[in-house]
Amino acid sequence: QKLDLELAAIEKGGFDHFMLKEIFEQPITIADSLRGRLVLNEDRIILSGIDAIKDKLMAARRIIIVACGTSWHAGLVAEYVIEELCRINVEVEYASEFRYRNPIVDADDVIIAISQSGETADTLVALERAKQQGATIFGIVNVVGSSIARISHAGCYTHAGPEIGVASTKAYTAQLAVLMLLALKVAKEKGTISAERFTELSQELNNIPEKVQWVLDNEVDNIKAIAFKYKDAHDVLYLGRGYNFPTALEGALKLKEISYIHAEGYPAAEMKHGPIALVDDQLPVVFIASKDAYHEKIVSNIQEIKARKGKVISVVSEGDEITPSISDDVMFVPVVDEVIAPLLTVVPLQLLSYYIGVYRGLDVDKPRNLAKSVTVE
Ligand code: G6P
Repeated sequence: QKLDLELAAIEKGGFDHFMLKEIFEQPITIADSLRGRLVLNEDRIILSGIDAIKDKLMAARRIIIVACGTSWHAGLVAEYVIEELCRINVEVEYASEFRYRNPIVDADDVIIAISQSGETADTLVALERAKQQGATIFGIVNVVGSSIARISHAGCYTHAGPEIGVASTKAYTAQLAVLMLLALKVAKEKGTISAERFTELSQELNNIPEKVQWVLDNEVDNIKAIAFKYKDAHDVLYLGRGYNFPTALEGALKLKEISYIHAEGYPAAEMKHGPIALVDDQLPVVFIASKDAYHEKIVSNIQEIKARKGKVISVVSEGDEITPSISDDVMFVPVVDEVIAPLLTVVPLQLLSYYIGVYRGLDVDKPRNLAKSVTVE
């Protein structure tokens, strides 16, 4: 038994939990997902899986992204990025809904499947059906040789390494890294991005591992203190706009999974159509408020929450002085281009959920009722 305990400690690499180890691995796993693919000095992206279905992709009327859980959130980020950079219509579907809806799919459609495990039953069946209807399937999968990898026509592995914590962290950021590469590559091939913007975004993507490392080096103690302060909350609202709207959903999902605190993610402006009714002096509201084109809008959303005495916890860009002055608590991230921001802004939210779960004395690696891979419907 002693040996088992020691083995478990070694596997966790000195961290208390797999989840924390996996959060801290992200500078490496993101870099691993970019390595050999993002060739900065040649302004080129190598993704052989894309080359394999290039004609289909170039001609695609639309891309349908099919996934579940955290992987579905990666799909939502991709919708914003691909539509902006590639000017291709993107639809993001919950696999469980898509498979039963008799969806309209044909040979002109490209389906991107996103799955850490490659074994999620709903995603797998949805893809089998779409494949029968003639669609081209592109898999973004972490587990090599998994079922979804095998039924895809082409794909791209995420290279995050084994993810043990039930709540996905490093697999999510690896998915985002690959989706960003895909969007940049397709945009370049289609001519929907300028050479300058391509170079700029490639560099931003390349700099993400060190920016994530900055958060891990500088913000952990601060985030621990914030987690301690809010660990007894009953509900938490997460709000973001644009590229960071999916980050709000993912932040809320992480908190639910790990701490069993009820949490909801919403587009910040949509809060007026319901969630604002929940705001009182007990409600913590997390804003993903890194600097982007919507920044002024989100600042006014924060003011609306403060006017109703809500407690505001903001994720803000370094150097921003206005947002901290109207927030109760802040978590800083380095300045980053808005398109690439979701790779970075999710990291403080992962840490916040982790520490809240730990302070509540919960089993963060194996939350009750959840499975790492849902292989039954
Ligand atoms: C389960 C896991 C989640 C994961 C989801 C989809 O619910 O607990 O972390 O996001 O399945 O899994 P997949 O392996 O398809 O990404």
